[in-house]
Amino acid sequence: MAIYSTSGFLIFCLIQNSVANHANVHLKLPTEIRLGQQLKFDCETSSVISATKSRQWRGGANNKLLCYDGTTVDPTKYKEKMINQTNYELIVEEASENDLECPYACRVGFDIDQKFLKVNENNFVQLPDKKFTKVDYQMQNGQARLILVLFKVFPKPVCKLKNQERVLPETNATKSVVLYNVTYRLESSESIIPCGEQLDIECKVGKERYFVPVKNSITCNSSKTSKDSATSLVTIVGVCVACISFVGLAVLWAHCKRKKKHNGEYKRAVNKAEGMNLTI
Ligand SMILES: *[C@@H]1O[C@H](CO)[C@@H](O)[C@H](O)[C@H]1NC(C)=O
Ligand SMILES: *[C@@H]1O[C@H](CO)[C@@H](O)[C@H](O)[C@H]1NC(C)=O
Ligand SMILES: *[C@@H]1O[C@H](CO)[C@@H](O)[C@H](O)[C@H]1NC(C)=O
Ligand SMILES: *[C@@H]1O[C@H](CO)[C@@H](O)[C@H](O)[C@H]1NC(C)=O
Repeated sequence: MAIYSTSGFLIFCLIQNSVANHANVHLKLPTEIRLGQQLKFDCETSSVISATKSRQWRGGANNKLLCYDGTTVDPTKYKEKMINQTNYELIVEEASENDLECPYACRVGFDIDQKFLKVNENNFVQLPDKKFTKVDYQMQNGQARLILVLFKVFPKPVCKLKNQERVLPETNATKSVVLYNVTYRLESSESIIPCGEQLDIECKVGKERYFVPVKNSITCNSSKTSKDSATSLVTIVGVCVACISFVGLAVLWAHCKRKKKHNGEYKRAVNKAEGMNLTI
């Protein structure tokens, strides 16, 4: 009995040793991750992959078997590709958040290499969704307030008012698997940007830039400015009416003067001709 369990233990150790041996295979994780695109994992073996050895891929959100000797659990999501006699690839289609931040392993026979697919500023960028970006600027009782919300972004952006180099303070951030929703808020006792000017916000997302789409220029909504603009509208209309009347009068006056002059010249010419007739 004792001999049986000892030999059982020995066999267990032998298997463990061969399972733990990963010097002969090397897994390379994708270095440029984009959601919606392919993720490629490369597995390289130190010697030619023999036909008698099985190939396996494991991993993903539930760390399950993904592919066995080229047969995949979901052909639309996972594909295996033989590159050459020593390298083969796992292709994950349409990468989603759930394919990230989880382990992946390749195995040839008993040789295995496992790594964790972690995202960071160097291997992953996701610009915020333009359709859902929220910008709200209000000027009330002499208080200006700017709120910006960016959805589903990575890494956390640093946003600035472009013309002022003023950084917008982050006030809240929530994270799903990897993507953030980030809220920025800037308050000021004076107008953050002059009335009628375009709000220009530029964010740095990792190494990329994102220009916040703002549809309209800022309309200052305090009663003072609306009265001001009403006054200026009246002024502009008044000036226009005055200008048009003046030009009209001037044209009329010039026309009358020319007519008078013309009449005078005609009379003089007739007189001259009559005079000539007389001399003939
Ligand atoms: C197999 O492909 C890998 C990746 O493309 C390459 O690095 C390696 O040199 C190739 N090996 C052979 C034997 O062609
Ligand atoms: C502008 O002022 C009106 C009335 O005071 C208010 O209902 C409206 O929400 C304000 N709009 C903005 C963009 O501040
Ligand atoms: C941050 O935003 C989340 C989601 O909108 C909200 O549940 C949470 O209370 C906010 N936290 C703070 C400190 O405002
Ligand atoms: C981020 O915002 C989107 C859209 O409002 C929402 O569906 C999602 O649950 C939010 N994520 C987090 C982590 O708050």
